Amino acid sequence: MALWGGRFAEETRRDVRVYSESISFDRRLYKHDIAGSKAHVAMLARQGIIPESSAAAIRAELDRIAARIDAGDFAYDIALEDIHMHVENALISVLGAEGARVHSGRSRNDQVALDFRLYLREAADRLVAAIRGFQRELVAKAEQEAETIMPGFTHLQHAQAVLLAHHLLAYVEMFDRDAERLTDCRKRINVMPLGSGALAGSTLPLDREFVCRELGFERISRNSMDAVADRDFAIEFVGALATAAMHFSRLSEDLILWSSQEFDFIELSDAFCTGSSLMPQKKNPDVCELTRGKTARVYGALTALLTLCKGLPMTYNRDLQEDKVAVFDALDTVELMLRVYPPMIREMRVKRENMARAAADPALMATDLAEKLVELGVPFRDAHRRVGAFVKYCKDRDRRLDEVTLEEMRETIPEATAEFLTMFDPQASIAKRKLPGGTGFAPVREQLEFWKKRFADGL
Ligand code: ARG
Repeated sequence: MALWGGRFAEETRRDVRVYSESISFDRRLYKHDIAGSKAHVAMLARQGIIPESSAAAIRAELDRIAARIDAGDFAYDIALEDIHMHVENALISVLGAEGARVHSGRSRNDQVALDFRLYLREAADRLVAAIRGFQRELVAKAEQEAETIMPGFTHLQHAQAVLLAHHLLAYVEMFDRDAERLTDCRKRINVMPLGSGALAGSTLPLDREFVCRELGFERISRNSMDAVADRDFAIEFVGALATAAMHFSRLSEDLILWSSQEFDFIELSDAFCTGSSLMPQKKNPDVCELTRGKTARVYGALTALLTLCKGLPMTYNRDLQEDKVAVFDALDTVELMLRVYPPMIREMRVKRENMARAAADPALMATDLAEKLVELGVPFRDAHRRVGAFVKYCKDRDRRLDEVTLEEMRETIPEATAEFLTMFDPQASIAKRKLPGGTGFAPVREQLEFWKKRFADGL
């Protein structure tokens, strides 16, 4: 009752307090809430809306509140609902009437939008830095494996020989776009909503541009109703997280396959695996499996946010309080991935001999034969058919493609020359792939140089 003042005659029901509180999850906004309030009161004093002395007292007390929260010396009470009420209440309990001036010209609707934007701006920067760190780790591993040949897959079937470095660098590209997406959505996060009030702005002579500058925002919001109503910036942010999680999940699936007995391409270090409570021989790639599972949670957060907003009438509705649950969960999940994966990749042991053995399957070079025929003037469709017939010829006789004589090869490929018999070497096949962006030794070296230069340039 004390909380809502004059309008209310009855206390909120206990269960309803539990239902309405957000302090259990929005307390993590305290630094941003306090930074916002400090900028707000500085502006109120400059504009002559509150006395300079009150602003000074409020700012000093806000710093003390922040220090208390940092130290774990702050009591939370669900009766105070959210972080905004907690900080305001703490101010008033020490400063009395002076503290009661802090909320002039402000609503929790624009306040929470401000806090959330400050928080996500910081989180986006943290995420981008962590993604860069992970990319470096992938590039370092790619550099170590710059000569390691493995089968490349399509449809999970052996396709063509590739370099492991090329495979790893594909993920570096994917994570690069994730970092770009976060950087891009940061622009739309970085808009200052305070001064929008509950929905209609304020009659007080606030200086929104001052608050904007104080808090390092790019610009102020243009429309107060939009500023309190929409959460598209959070949706975009979680969309970027969901995409990053999807990339982690795909990488994980590769690692799971590669560490299976059937592939036996890598061994993850013990620190990232667990055993079975029953089967003594087991070593399971749990971290990778959990990443697939946790990715589902991040997708859930995105779906929750989109669903949360789709039916809301303008402007602020209390439903929006739930946005933070989804966003924080998605953020924590992806930040954990970004902590766990760099050391896991660093410590991953590559079984080069096993990869090489798998890549020695001459069928991986069938496309090279067809392309050789194209060079000799055979139309590609005919070349494809001839090599296909050759593959069948070998298969019917239970022989590998490199276990035939030139005469035998000529039964299906009349144009074949002695050179054709030398083309089943994966090393030679890769060496011939000189196109930029391909898996040849030279273009992969170029990719490595590109990334190393970018990192040296501070990206
Ligand atoms: N805890 C609320 C939220 O997260 C703050 C805004 C409350 N506004 C209101 N009019 N009840 O959305």
